[in-house]
Amino acid sequence: MRNAGILGTGHYVPDRVFTNFDMEQLVETNDEWIRTRTGIEERRLATDDMDTSNMAYEAAVRALEKSNLKPEDIDLILVATVTPDSPFPSVGNRVQELLGATNAASMDLSAACAGFMYGMITAQQFIQNGAYDHVLVIGAEKLSKITDWTDRNTCVLFGDGAGATVMGPVSEGKGILSFELGTDPTGAKHLYQCKEDNFIKMNGREVFKFAVRQMPESSINVLEKAGLTKEEVDFLVPHQANIRIMEAARQRLEIPEEKMATSVKRYGNTSSSSIPIALSENVENGKIKDNDVVVLVGFGGGLTWGAVALRY
Ligand code: ACO
Repeated sequence: MRNAGILGTGHYVPDRVFTNFDMEQLVETNDEWIRTRTGIEERRLATDDMDTSNMAYEAAVRALEKSNLKPEDIDLILVATVTPDSPFPSVGNRVQELLGATNAASMDLSAACAGFMYGMITAQQFIQNGAYDHVLVIGAEKLSKITDWTDRNTCVLFGDGAGATVMGPVSEGKGILSFELGTDPTGAKHLYQCKEDNFIKMNGREVFKFAVRQMPESSINVLEKAGLTKEEVDFLVPHQANIRIMEAARQRLEIPEEKMATSVKRYGNTSSSSIPIALSENVENGKIKDNDVVVLVGFGGGLTWGAVALRY
């Protein structure tokens, strides 16, 4: 069986910066509360003319560039999203057209904030068994369109953006070494999109409890499955929801602060985009290097979770 790994990464965030101080004008909140409870300082918001597929496309173009591939080289496009432009055609279909990826098949998958992990592992199966060579995996969200801008419990948390990864066969010992995916639907009531008003509803405390347990546990599980020790981890890319939840994973792995992605400060929680954006940024700034052991770990509505240990 072939190993599946990352050939290139890219990301895109909208230009419009919305700070905690801007948020103070909208709801009864303050910068200090948001920063100390979540680590978020600002987030990016997409304009009306930019939907999820436009951001996904921008991230995909950058990932293709980094992997030295052309759109025609892509066999499959998988987009993890809970905020598609419309249920169909899928965001994947739309990105395929924008790219001119004429040889690809495309679809979306939905696993909330853990969606990108589900996408990576789906891609891995096609690459490992030899069915496809190049799979474009994208996490893209315009959460601002399902955010209740009058609800301070949720609106301070979310932002818009997209991250993309081109995956393909890599040499032995590299790429995805192990993974874990999980779902606990009994927790769905704590985090969901309401059918009546289409807004995100969340019981923050319950989600927090679940996440501080699951993120460290899944991180350790994938290391054990890969036969790796905590000392061998070079970088941690946790879902960027809340710095305190991310810290729980980092402390369990006993790695220093500088070895963890922290884009939550600048982008807030971008759901399925958060992991690929953080991955792409830290490849770009040189913190993730060739041969590094990287742990990616996410959780989200469903409740879902997913983790991967890989050698970059
Ligand atoms: N500004 C000021 N006060 C606020 C705000 C706000 N934006 N939001 C809530 N509060 C108030 C509440 O009304 C409550 O007041 P009360 O005690 O008088 O009722 C109090 O602050 C809540 O305090 P805590 O519950 O102690 O806040 P906590 O430390 O739990 O932080 C938070 C809340 C940040 C939401 C936290 O629970 C959390 O991060 N949970 C996980 C959320 C998450 O990650 N969700 C997304 C995951 S999946 C996905 O991305 C879709």
